[in-house]
Amino acid sequence: MAIRMIRQDGDEILKKKSKEVDVIDDKVKELIKDMIDTMHKYDGVGLAAVQVGILKRIVVIDLYEEGKEPYIFINPEIIETKGEQEVDEGCLSFPNKYARIIRPKEVKLRALNEKGEQIEIIGQDLLAQAMCHEVDHLNGVVFVEKIIPGTLETVTQEQKQEKKDNRKNK
Ligand code: NI
Repeated sequence: MAIRMIRQDGDEILKKKSKEVDVIDDKVKELIKDMIDTMHKYDGVGLAAVQVGILKRIVVIDLYEEGKEPYIFINPEIIETKGEQEVDEGCLSFPNKYARIIRPKEVKLRALNEKGEQIEIIGQDLLAQAMCHEVDHLNGVVFVEKIIPGTLETVTQEQKQEKKDNRKNK
């Protein structure tokens, strides 16, 4: 288990586009493990490899649902979206910032799993939101660029603790 350093707001790497993964080798598998550990350590629901400084198209998501393993998406692509939802959003790279944002209500995502098999998953609500947020990271886009104007707030550690349940970081 290794916790990696999360790149923070202002780090230029967050604006860079990540590259497709060609081979899922041991190094990639170790990175995925570390990403999951790092996401869990900081109570995140999602993490993109770029957030730990690696420009590879890899995303992990965990909604902390009973008995469900974290999602691992390699080279993810959003192939269809449906509807809209207005939600609170945060990001592990912007630790105290939250804002309102409009995301699709439903997302169909195609990716490779850890074994290199192609998978398609339909996500709704929080999963759809997280899929969009993380795929944005792979394209060098951070959530603050997409928020509803005037809704960005900075919260203190205390407020954050109170709001932990309904405001998860990605
Ligand atoms: Ni994020």
